[in-house]
Amino acid sequence: MDKVVIDSLNINGEGVGFLQDKKVCVKKVLKGEEIEIERVYEKKNFILGKVVNIVKKSPLRREEKCKYCSKCGGCDFMFVEDALSIKKEIIRGYFKDLYVGNIVINESAKEFNYRNKVSFFVKDGFVGMQERGSNKVVKIDYCLVAKEEINEVLKLAQMYIDETNETNIHHIVVRSLEGLVSVVCVVTKKPKNLEIFNSLLKNKFNDTYGLFLNYNKVNSSNILSDKFELIAGNKQIETEIFGLKFFIEPYSFMQINDDVRNKLYNRVLNEIKGEIVIEGYSGAGLLSCLMAARAKSVISIEKNRTATSDANKTKEANNITNLTNINGDCADVLPNLIRQNNNATFVIDPPRKGVDNKILKILKEEKVKKIVYISCNLYTLKQNLVTLKDSYKVTNFEIFDMFPNTTDIESLVVLERK
Ligand SMILES: C[S@@+](CC[C@H](N)C(=O)[O-])C[C@H]1O[C@@H](n2cnc3c(N)ncnc32)[C@H](O)[C@@H]1O
Repeated sequence: MDKVVIDSLNINGEGVGFLQDKKVCVKKVLKGEEIEIERVYEKKNFILGKVVNIVKKSPLRREEKCKYCSKCGGCDFMFVEDALSIKKEIIRGYFKDLYVGNIVINESAKEFNYRNKVSFFVKDGFVGMQERGSNKVVKIDYCLVAKEEINEVLKLAQMYIDETNETNIHHIVVRSLEGLVSVVCVVTKKPKNLEIFNSLLKNKFNDTYGLFLNYNKVNSSNILSDKFELIAGNKQIETEIFGLKFFIEPYSFMQINDDVRNKLYNRVLNEIKGEIVIEGYSGAGLLSCLMAARAKSVISIEKNRTATSDANKTKEANNITNLTNINGDCADVLPNLIRQNNNATFVIDPPRKGVDNKILKILKEEKVKKIVYISCNLYTLKQNLVTLKDSYKVTNFEIFDMFPNTTDIESLVVLERK
């Protein structure tokens, strides 16, 4: 067995150490720990290790509160005390060439029961989570980070599967916002006996739920396709957030942690002071509407048609007149808007793959006044910031604990032209 001392953590939260000259990466360890590993995978300069024994433990190691943690692929930082400070240090090291100022931490009000959306896996009669490093499903009775309503649906889903032996459902995606619940069964073909699941849901949630089918292949790269069928209840979640009437369908993106979403949006709003705002990757448009109240005007671009339609409903229901929602690809729409609006504030919140190169190129050439970049992926955030570094300086870096108990982190970076 090999003994390794962990020198640091990388941006995936893995411990990094060295064996002779080879870099070793190991999950679920902490800086300063001495561990014995098994070699899982090896290349010329790299070893992926698995902990077999911890010889010297970090004082920051704690008991995991969830009984599924050792198997479920979800909460890979539940074993850590004060995880947010560790994440801050990871970021400080990773971005040291681009930003050396203070990194503000924004905590989550809830460490548990914060997730407003969970995609459960269904396989071999079990509803649960995907096992770490395999395609098996770990049956779970309760997910500690999911909201209570989501856990209620989990129980009912297992009861329904147990009673009917239904095999056409491969995922169940549940969202809960302001007490309203949407349940999407992702299927290869229409299940029989769906009325049994529906009556369980009806008994529990009365008129505050919607049940949908979504038709998609088992191993598709996205869990949901755009083919939905409403089976019962409400087609959309219709609620009030930040004092705005807000509409969202199951296919549209929404930030996963309500409290941290509000903190993040408030932080963005602080940047808006009566100017033109151009927002890329705008989702279901809640932030767009909030910004419209502070901006001269807002133009928002979103690729997902359902999300743009939700955004327009929210805009109209709140009588907002200075917001234009464009349904399109940012790579096609943003370049011209950048060329024509150098003094605007650009708010961009791209998916994990970051901002399209076409947009980065124009941002570099044109030098807009201010960019507020929201990111859920430190790797692509850094790549994009490196591309922009000759034209813009990072003036602010904040982190938001959107995903407590996991290694993921949401960041907000403000860039101003040099
Ligand atoms: C991380 S979410 C952010 C949504 C929104 N800012 C919010 O806070 O809810 C990214 C959004 O970008 C959209 N999207 C992904 N690629 C896009 C593209 N090339 N052009 C426009 N929108 C895109 C997705 O549909 C998703 O709604």
